[in-house]
Amino acid sequence: MTATPPLFDAAFRERFDALLRWRRDVRHFRHEELPAGELDAILDTARLAPSVGNSQPWRFVRCCSDDLRERLASHVDQQSAAAATAITDPERAASYARLKLHGLREAPEIVAVFSDDDPAAGHRLGRATMRETLRYSTVLAIDHLWLAARVRGVALGWVSILDPAFVTALLDAPPGWSLVALLCLGYPEHETDTPELERRGWQARHPLTILMR
Ligand SMILES: Cc1cc2nc3c(=O)[nH]c(=O)nc-3n(C[C@H](O)[C@H](O)[C@H](O)COP(=O)(O)O)c2cc1C
Repeated sequence: MTATPPLFDAAFRERFDALLRWRRDVRHFRHEELPAGELDAILDTARLAPSVGNSQPWRFVRCCSDDLRERLASHVDQQSAAAATAITDPERAASYARLKLHGLREAPEIVAVFSDDDPAAGHRLGRATMRETLRYSTVLAIDHLWLAARVRGVALGWVSILDPAFVTALLDAPPGWSLVALLCLGYPEHETDTPELERRGWQARHPLTILMR
């Protein structure tokens, strides 16, 4: 079956480039709910991601209760404090202490993303020698989600300073689901084309390196 694709012309490419340049990891959210159906629409676009064997292993858990939100936030605070003890350089340690590394208490939506380690879909095609391709597929869905949110003005913050076993148990995830990400979504306090870690002097972007063989 063939169909006529939309025209991805130079103007579109410029806008697409702007989308990528203005996608940010955000930790500062306004206290404003997303409109009804907005999160569903974003997740629906995320599922257009490619996946090994078309297995679509991404699984989303929307965290709705205040109790869950506070438990997740305090867990990440604890893990972040523990991570800080491993930083030996005093200047780095002071810089780390000033960073805000999650918006779990403010973001209107919290979504945990799991990857099914043995989905029925796909009939195991393509993953016999690289089981990790399932999780790679889930990460691609997260990237789709990130961009789908951004075009709607919705910001996303990826939270990984956590113990996946703790979060998996807290969310009572089904057996065989592995935690890939904890995401905060909501409207950002401010817009910028520069990563927060770069603005705060933690880490700037590298120039591109390509090896030729
Ligand atoms: C796998 C992954 C895990 C991340 N975990 C965290 C996190 O725990 N806390 C945080 O503040 N940012 C986290 N980030 C966001 C990165 O810090 C951010 O993507 C990077 O600094 C570049 O900024 P940008 O996304 O705005 O371009 C994570 C990003 C990725 C891709």
